[in-house]
Amino acid sequence: MSNPDAPPLCLPTTATATTTNLPESQHQEQTYRLDSIDSTITIRQFPSQGISFQLWPAAATLVTLLDRHKLRHHPSNTASPLSSTLITPHRRLRILELGSGTGIVGIAAAALLGAKVTATDLPHALPNLQFNVAANAGIFEPHGGAVEVAALQWGEKKDMEAIGGRDEYDLILGSDVVYHDHLYEPLLETLKFFLLGTDRKMVFVMGHLKRWKKESAFFKKANKYFDVDVLHTDTPSNGSRVGVIVYQFLRKKKN
Ligand SMILES: C[S@@+](CC[C@H](N)C(=O)[O-])C[C@H]1O[C@@H](n2cnc3c(N)ncnc32)[C@H](O)[C@@H]1O
Repeated sequence: MSNPDAPPLCLPTTATATTTNLPESQHQEQTYRLDSIDSTITIRQFPSQGISFQLWPAAATLVTLLDRHKLRHHPSNTASPLSSTLITPHRRLRILELGSGTGIVGIAAAALLGAKVTATDLPHALPNLQFNVAANAGIFEPHGGAVEVAALQWGEKKDMEAIGGRDEYDLILGSDVVYHDHLYEPLLETLKFFLLGTDRKMVFVMGHLKRWKKESAFFKKANKYFDVDVLHTDTPSNGSRVGVIVYQFLRKKKN
């Protein structure tokens, strides 16, 4: 994923290690090439600071699929697994990203879909997320995209209402958000709030790398409320037994 030829990251003056208490000397940069728009996203990570400060495998998969979707009309391209999901609305697409971490998925979606993205996470993750959004504004703004950053703790109704509520969004994205079992219920509450509380057809697209058997409990609960379908499966890499799977969650059809 890293590209040694990528230009150095321009550090915006509004977000620095001093203001965020992040150890600037420990930061790492990771680049991701978007072929369809001939651009490179650069993401600042602090792997020593925990899970919110590093890129996770499902994020790369979602970005690759979004890039392929943008290339779908190119003669060399194969079909996009997101074609039936990413229906262009009559207005600029509005996307909510849950558990954004470093922000690469939201930034890529803004650039590739010209979407207005609200990238959310727990408060401690927001300064680095905001930093990466500002550092990559030159990639998404020329394509009509915009990214705003907001706190959203899963299951917190006041956070969900503060970002505009149910009718604000067309699509929800998440990558590697199913891992600790105590987070299954709050994440499901968040999905129920946004997907079940509106008459509009809302979809959650989730990239997921299975790590533990216990994760089947999340899917079992999710199946009570949503039709969950697989849109794409990565070929396992680096000796892994499983690859990232991309799921679509839709409100369950009434029988
Ligand atoms: C494994 S990381 C994935 C980050 C990013 N989506 C990616 O794929 O690179 C999970 C993310 O979920 C966030 N998260 C964990 N618990 C959360 C909660 N209760 N509410 C909101 N976000 C949460 C973490 O801060 C972290 O950024």
